[in-house]
Amino acid sequence: MPTGPFVGIDVGGTGIKGAPVNLDTGGLLRERIRVPTPMPATPAAVAGVVASVLEEIPGDGPIGVTLPGVVTGGVVRTAANIDKKWIGVNAVDLFAEATGRPVTVVNDADAAGLAEVRFGAGAGRAGTVIVVTLGTGIGSALFVDGSLVPNTEFGHLHLHHGDAEDWAAELVREREGLSWEQYAHRIEQYFRLVQRLFWPNLIIVGGGASRKAEKFLPLVKVDTEVVAAALQNDAGIVGAAMLAAGHHAKAGATQRGQGVS
Ligand code: BGC
Repeated sequence: MPTGPFVGIDVGGTGIKGAPVNLDTGGLLRERIRVPTPMPATPAAVAGVVASVLEEIPGDGPIGVTLPGVVTGGVVRTAANIDKKWIGVNAVDLFAEATGRPVTVVNDADAAGLAEVRFGAGAGRAGTVIVVTLGTGIGSALFVDGSLVPNTEFGHLHLHHGDAEDWAAELVREREGLSWEQYAHRIEQYFRLVQRLFWPNLIIVGGGASRKAEKFLPLVKVDTEVVAAALQNDAGIVGAAMLAAGHHAKAGATQRGQGVS
């Protein structure tokens, strides 16, 4: 059986962040380490950075790694916002070889969602809860009575002749210089679509935009309750470490030698 400390590593578009996690509290056991994401973010380059992050976190405990794509059976299936070379790569094997540690790999939004539902804004909430991360793209995590339905990819729902994330991600707001009112209007239309399709009890807004939630969330008028994520920056790290510890083995993650999904 694996022993701790369990480490979470969150691979994002601009930074790769890692820390050991206290799984009783959801807090980090030390300040997180952040290394810029290599460009291009090929599998080999990212694996090298993940290994270098771990050099600063002593121990040989299991690690959980997030990736911004669909992950089934440890294999990356999509790569909307990362290097296309990831498609078809067995990321569990890649990171296990690069680090020598037991590895779990999970979609970034699923990891953030797990942490948020366990320790953050979704704690103790029954029914259908959707965590939406607004960042480089739009990620999603769907929970039914606390159980994750993995790889939902609601950022790719069709909205205004294209993928919702190409119109309503935080990066789009920055790139197009949208005012908070304009951005809130886009998020409102996106959430109305999500509401019409899934009728969630709660939508939790995470990702980079959640740090500025007070600027636009009050302007978003939908019937569903919408709240900002509580964990913000650390949610991906915490969720990845939870999965590494096997806390949610049934939730779609895959550990080496234990193909779950
Ligand atoms: C990807 C998702 C990911 C999200 C946030 C989307 O483009 O398809 O898998 O969760 O971006 O990074």
